[in-house]
Amino acid sequence: MNEFDLAVIGLGYVGMPLAKEAAAAGLRVAGLDVDAGKVDALNAGRSYIDDLTDADLDRMLQNGFTATLDESVLARSRTIVICVPTPLDEDHRPDLSSVEGATSAVARHLTAGTLVVLESTTYPGTTDEIARPLLEASGLVAGRDFHLAFSPERIDPGNAKYGLRNTPKVVGGFTAECRDRATAFYAGFIEQIVPVSGTREAEMAKLLENTYRHVNIALVNEMAIFCDELGIDLWESIEAASTKPFGFQKFLPGPGVGGHCIPVDPSYLSYRVRRLGYPFRFVELAQEINERMPNYVVARIQRLLNKERKAVNGSKVALLGVTYKPDIADERETPALPLARALLELGAELVFVDPYVKKWQVDGVEVPRREDLSAAVAEADVTVLLQQHAIFDLSIVEERAGLVLDTRGVLAEGDRVERL
Ligand SMILES: NC(=O)c1ccc[n+]([C@@H]2O[C@H](COP(=O)([O-])OP(=O)(O)OC[C@H]3O[C@@H](n4cnc5c(N)ncnc54)[C@H](O)[C@@H]3O)[C@@H](O)[C@H]2O)c1
Repeated sequence: MNEFDLAVIGLGYVGMPLAKEAAAAGLRVAGLDVDAGKVDALNAGRSYIDDLTDADLDRMLQNGFTATLDESVLARSRTIVICVPTPLDEDHRPDLSSVEGATSAVARHLTAGTLVVLESTTYPGTTDEIARPLLEASGLVAGRDFHLAFSPERIDPGNAKYGLRNTPKVVGGFTAECRDRATAFYAGFIEQIVPVSGTREAEMAKLLENTYRHVNIALVNEMAIFCDELGIDLWESIEAASTKPFGFQKFLPGPGVGGHCIPVDPSYLSYRVRRLGYPFRFVELAQEINERMPNYVVARIQRLLNKERKAVNGSKVALLGVTYKPDIADERETPALPLARALLELGAELVFVDPYVKKWQVDGVEVPRREDLSAAVAEADVTVLLQQHAIFDLSIVEERAGLVLDTRGVLAEGDRVERL
């Protein structure tokens, strides 16, 4: 009998919630990572993940969870789930080096009868064309000697209503038997499993979801730009449209898209489509529009200051919320970064207020942090609400700030306050 029911490779935003639910369901779980700092922190009961409290971690450790740098743990696990990062390289192409590294580690320790599941978001074909040959280098054959599946992670960090357990889990196997084995595994701690016919369909489902978000966010962002020129309150129009009980889903404009998923995943799909010899036009257009938003916000800041005969150069600008989404500490791909960079280049004096971020740098330059929201907005020539953390008292901003650009459409508009 195996020592562990599950080995999770990659102990990040995706791997740790999976390890938590599996451990809570009574599975014996081990975690493998290449980052010694993370492994030490977890074994010492210190969580670095928003959705995992130290108390959660304590419970896991009591239930036998252990984090390790030692890949030999893989040989002692009945199921192995790979949750490593899938970023883009400098040329904006998929960087599968972590997936390849983790899969090769699995191959070195693969034993007959093991279920291997890839959860990292990636383009259709990765499980079959990249992971399978690496695994079969072990001498074992997928579908015959071991089981292979893809199951996309749909976790939404900071979402209090939907977590791993109550979000349906899509599962595609290399063979029907692989799929059934993976379905049975996840059914042990996830309420609803959605089996699909193959690994490509499962890979594609995830990219469809995120491309859909990416494109619809770009749609409202482009509308925000021309509605401003047309003198239309788009925020009101969106609320009105959202009253339609069918056929419409609400998306809101903002200063750009961030996070590890929305700005990155569609590029995985467009990379795959380009290999067919033509572009994925929707994605490329959405990218162009969303990437333009930080500069558009800077132009709106310039316009606001101009009303008071001020230049950006030398003006004090307070940025409220620099994470990519509200109420979490994740700064990855945050649009606050290109926006701050552009403001600094124009000579603005920046400060930021964010209860979730203790230190913030732009290209190696530290941006001063203000603890006191009220003082920060009162001192600033212009305040930019970038992220609406629930903890921000917006009435303070409305009462004490000078000029305000509200990129989230939550402040009452007036002489001093403009919405995107
Ligand atoms: N964060 C999200 O909200 C989210 C949601 C859905 C899907 N995903 C996808 O899940 C995957 C993982 O994302 P994440 O946010 O958990 O990343 P993360 O950076 O939080 O964690 C990944 C972990 O993998 C480790 N790692 C890297 N290479 C390794 C290797 N060869 N062996 C062992 N460990 C290795 C890293 O040290 C890190 O701890 C990505 O493909 C991502 O697109 C993320």
